[in-house]
Amino acid sequence: MEKLIINGGDRLKGDVTVSGAKNAALPVVAAALMANGESMLEDIPGLRDVFCMMEILGAMGASVSFQDNVLTVNPNGSEFAEPPYNRVSKLRASYYLMGVLLARQRYARIAMPGGCAIGNRPIDLHLKGFKALGAETSIDHGVVELKASRLSGAKIYLDYPSVGATINIMLAATLASGLTTIENAAREPEIIDLANYLTVMGARIKGVGTDVIKIEGVQELVPAQHRIIPDRIESGSYMIAAAATRGDVYVRNSLSEHLKSLVAKLKEMGVIIQEDIEGVRVTAPNGIRAVDIKTLPHPGFPTDLQPQMMALLTQVDEGTSMVIETVFENRFMHIDELKRMGANISLDGRGALIKPSPLSGARVSASDLRAGVALIIAGLVADGETEIENAYHVERGYEKIELKLKDIGADLKVV
Ligand code: UD1
Repeated sequence: MEKLIINGGDRLKGDVTVSGAKNAALPVVAAALMANGESMLEDIPGLRDVFCMMEILGAMGASVSFQDNVLTVNPNGSEFAEPPYNRVSKLRASYYLMGVLLARQRYARIAMPGGCAIGNRPIDLHLKGFKALGAETSIDHGVVELKASRLSGAKIYLDYPSVGATINIMLAATLASGLTTIENAAREPEIIDLANYLTVMGARIKGVGTDVIKIEGVQELVPAQHRIIPDRIESGSYMIAAAATRGDVYVRNSLSEHLKSLVAKLKEMGVIIQEDIEGVRVTAPNGIRAVDIKTLPHPGFPTDLQPQMMALLTQVDEGTSMVIETVFENRFMHIDELKRMGANISLDGRGALIKPSPLSGARVSASDLRAGVALIIAGLVADGETEIENAYHVERGYEKIELKLKDIGADLKVV
């Protein structure tokens, strides 16, 4: 998908079904290397990032297959080839292989990860955790090397509740000896999902979903079957798109308990949200009000919904909104593109002020995954045709987005 062309102005209406969560699937797929034998993972989204992880696992020597959103992984032993640079450098989540390989073979050599260009994205907290568990760590010419004669449980305080560091330490600690305690741990639902999978594999983990996670190391893990949770960011993106187009959309397979901060903000704006056991219905009357947003680690407002929310905030009926981004320092690249479409946004450091204004179709470019979706939402409400270049970013995180949007009334085509 190189380019998306959207003819704006249609209200979204109908049912859309959310896929399994990308950010839960990626660590779970990597963790499947930690058990001898075949693991079966269900509701895995068919996404570019998932296929990239499959290619990495295959190149390391594992057998992997994917059909109908079921991914099977068999590590075929416990000595793995080095994950290939050309794939690792494209995928942020490839860094979960550090924790997995360290746990499994006490050694890892892997290039620094890729991913969206939304900030500096260091891995110091991951390395701090590995060191506390007894590993020697070094980075040379962009390649990370980890070595340990044995891994022993430790108490680790994270300076920031990093999602990636929490997951990586949890992975390594699962096969360490003794008790590991992660303090100021991240609390994202994807971490709970991974812990549930590891627990079925035989790991002993307590406290996930709180800021203190305890892991008692075990000798080995066994293969297991697991179903991935729904993607809360995909779900939130459709909810925001429904509100922006003043539509009426039922977002199926959506867990609103994972999206409390978004639901609260949409309600504050005057959007009507009806929750039931399978999903949420979003309807948006006229008279939507401005709100202020500050991104924070979970359960705060997710940074991964900030760009989409900003597109919606350009379309309120009254008031000025403020968006403060605290998680990533460079996550405002969508602003210039939204401005090309007529948005009235002023940026000062980590804060942006958004005044409502009509949008009109323009030629814009997606800088990263979530920015790409923000531009799609802007294109859906804009008057006329919007051409989004570099739309391939969106395929990294949204399964069948063009079909799902068309089904609820969007006029768009992929070039
Ligand atoms: C994950 C998600 C990403 C989401 C982010 C925050 C995946 C594959 N990606 O990314 O979609 O936007 O959580 O919800 O699940 N930091 C450090 N040192 C570290 C690690 C992180 O300073 O060692 C900083 C980062 O630069 C950033 C902040 O901590 O400013 C949050 O990063 P983190 O929670 O680790 O996000 P990721 O795991 O990279």
